[in-house]
Amino acid sequence: MDKARNEMLTRVGRGTPMGDLLRRYWHPIGGASELADNPIKAVRLMGEDLVLYQDLSGQYGLLGRHCPHRRADLSYGFVEKAGIRCNYHGWLMDERGGCVEQPFEDTFNPASPLRKKCTSPAYPVREMAGLLWAYMGPEPAPELPVWEPFTWSNGFKEIVACEVPCNWFQCQENSIDPVHFEWMHDNWSLRQRGETGPYAARHLRLGFDEFEYGFQYRRIREGATEQDPLWTVGRVTLWPNGFFLGSHFEWRIPIDDENTLNICWFFTRVPKESEPYVQNRVPTWYGPIKDTNGRWISSHIINQDVIAWVGQGTIADRSQELLGSSDRGIAMIRNRFFQDMDAVAQGRDPKGIVRDPEKAKLVKLPIATPKTFTESLPREQWQKDPYFGRRAQRFPWQAGQPSEVWNEFANAMGIDPGGRDPSELRVY
Ligand code: FES
Ligand SMILES: [Fe+2]
Repeated sequence: MDKARNEMLTRVGRGTPMGDLLRRYWHPIGGASELADNPIKAVRLMGEDLVLYQDLSGQYGLLGRHCPHRRADLSYGFVEKAGIRCNYHGWLMDERGGCVEQPFEDTFNPASPLRKKCTSPAYPVREMAGLLWAYMGPEPAPELPVWEPFTWSNGFKEIVACEVPCNWFQCQENSIDPVHFEWMHDNWSLRQRGETGPYAARHLRLGFDEFEYGFQYRRIREGATEQDPLWTVGRVTLWPNGFFLGSHFEWRIPIDDENTLNICWFFTRVPKESEPYVQNRVPTWYGPIKDTNGRWISSHIINQDVIAWVGQGTIADRSQELLGSSDRGIAMIRNRFFQDMDAVAQGRDPKGIVRDPEKAKLVKLPIATPKTFTESLPREQWQKDPYFGRRAQRFPWQAGQPSEVWNEFANAMGIDPGGRDPSELRVY
């Protein structure tokens, strides 16, 4: 790939082809529980410095970080019944980016046209499944699709994030890379545990198929048959920047060209005896990616992925790579992105945009093992099940689960939290 095309895939600023394409979609940008704890958060998304807030009436807003008056930082402002007030001279901004109060001007010169001139960049924010979603593109905004797993009941959900110092696209390419699972997760974990073998089942065949909302990748490993759900259904590379594995979603949201917010949504079905289970608040936590020696943490699955992503350089130089047969899916998504960038430049909707409100109400995705998430098991069986049994021991996906989240989880499942320290770094 030449450098110009690499730039097209990786640059996300407003006015760049990829920046304009990604702005056509709703993106999860954090957890609603974060704002319940602290109603104002400074955020940076696709190279734009912004402030995310929830005002006292419950309305969410996402505005330009700098006050339209004299550019003070609105993330140090304070929320009121309708909007966020700048801490410098008290101008009050609403979620549409309009200025609704200018205390001194309103007193001294109420007829001043200044207020009408005043606008701030403003983007709509919605809450769904405990996540906050933002749309930063042109109006009219498309529908926010309700992915079917968001409607599942009787499960414990948690939102897990980390900020990764590299470009988003190399993170997303990992979502269509089946073979890395054998080496980066299975075999590297085995070596980190001090074992030398035998190594995990090898990949024998791969399949990649495009569908309306992304791509499916399928695999056959040694010992598996063509009836294996990982061959018949596989995993989902969700368009444009997500990954769906049944039990959870991952998204790679560009913070800017050189940093990415990796944000995940996890669902764990409770055992039968714990039903009905209603979760009032979906916890959100951010995990560390470096240890105290400044080395990347390698003990958990997503942390291992992070090591691959940052290892490719801040912005991977795709003119230097050598793609093989295992990379067919990567080539497919790159081609689709180039076609999508063309579509947007020509004023058409890119792939996977939903404009029909009826259709958006429930969008199903292929799931290799749906029963694990939609049918409950008696607790005894739950604890013996390979998926839940592992989950009952620890959170294997990302380092740093806070103990209060672990305790809440154990409580929901009706299992003994065991007094373990979940922040302890372990090899998965
Ligand atoms: S800079 Fe915000 S009110 Fe003056
Ligand atoms: Fe991975």
